[in-house]
Amino acid sequence: MSNILVTGGAGFIGSTLVDKLILAGNKVVVVDDLSAGRKDYLNPLAKFYQLDINSPELERIFQLEKFDFVYHLAAQIEISKSVANPLQDNQINVIGAWNILENCRRQQIKKIIFSSTGGAIYGEADEIPTKESYPTYPLSFYGIHKLTFEKYLNSYYHLYHLDYTILRFANVYGPRQFKGGEAGVIAIFIDNAVRGRESKQYGDGQQTRDFVYVDDVVQALQSAQEITCHGELNISSGVETNLLDIRQKIEKALGSAIIVKELSARAGEQRRSCLDHQRASDVLNWYPRVDLEEGIKRTINWTKSHLQEE
Ligand SMILES: NC(=O)c1ccc[n+]([C@@H]2O[C@H](COP(=O)([O-])OP(=O)(O)OC[C@H]3O[C@@H](n4cnc5c(N)ncnc54)[C@H](O)[C@@H]3O)[C@@H](O)[C@H]2O)c1
Repeated sequence: MSNILVTGGAGFIGSTLVDKLILAGNKVVVVDDLSAGRKDYLNPLAKFYQLDINSPELERIFQLEKFDFVYHLAAQIEISKSVANPLQDNQINVIGAWNILENCRRQQIKKIIFSSTGGAIYGEADEIPTKESYPTYPLSFYGIHKLTFEKYLNSYYHLYHLDYTILRFANVYGPRQFKGGEAGVIAIFIDNAVRGRESKQYGDGQQTRDFVYVDDVVQALQSAQEITCHGELNISSGVETNLLDIRQKIEKALGSAIIVKELSARAGEQRRSCLDHQRASDVLNWYPRVDLEEGIKRTINWTKSHLQEE
């Protein structure tokens, strides 16, 4: 049993991770300001601090709780918000993240695991699927800030021997994904469809993404605790899918058409994204297990059952 902090543990991926860590017998503490996360996703067995990761209060929490491992997932995750307000994105995704890191150093935790982005860090890559060794040219400030924090982790390892692993997620989808924002086209399309509402599609629908199911991502996060790898690992399906295909797959699973309004593309968004996960397979012995058809089916079932509870 380990003593673990999950920042962003009331969010989509974080709350799913917390459930699995608790199931595995760990003691889990969550720090989340609930700016996007939800209290009802919080596992009741987790100790919860509603707090901004920029808060000086974190120092006391680290001293009190004596963590073995830290999963840093709290973040501003919307590309368009980062483009509209780069300084705010920087405050959360670099300075707030640094506050977590500095406390990890002071309290000499065993390891920090960081949820970075593979979807927004390589820019428009010529190499598809893209490997971790591909040059990083993020198009958005969100991508720049995620990359900046990766560099902090590397420096802290070299300066202070703080162990870390970086997981660069592709487009994660599944139950509990926030439907109000822009991240998570599958969650947005499915939620609108089951409510009989219209969805917005930005761009011509030929833009591609690499969709990886949340349970597979959580499995990778858990495995990352066990290994020594000071570097980046893409966590992806390795399959390139365009938005028109996504629409079709959702329609097939629902057995009915979905209503979509087509709008012009948004600033900072990429045309293609698909990541190679061979390194994660080698280092973590990790493979995505849930394919898109199955993941969409599970997400639809969860959305329908959740709708009945509302
Ligand atoms: N969802 C994806 O496709 C995807 C892809 C690549 C990387 N990631 C990364 O994975 C992590 C989790 O993403 P998610 O999809 O679960 O998003 P999410 O928005 O559901 O979760 C983020 C959580 O962080 C919390 N948070 C935000 N700002 C905070 C602050 N200043 N202080 C404390 N808590 C704060 C939010 O309330 C939320 O609960 C993020 O770091 C994100 O960048 C996600």
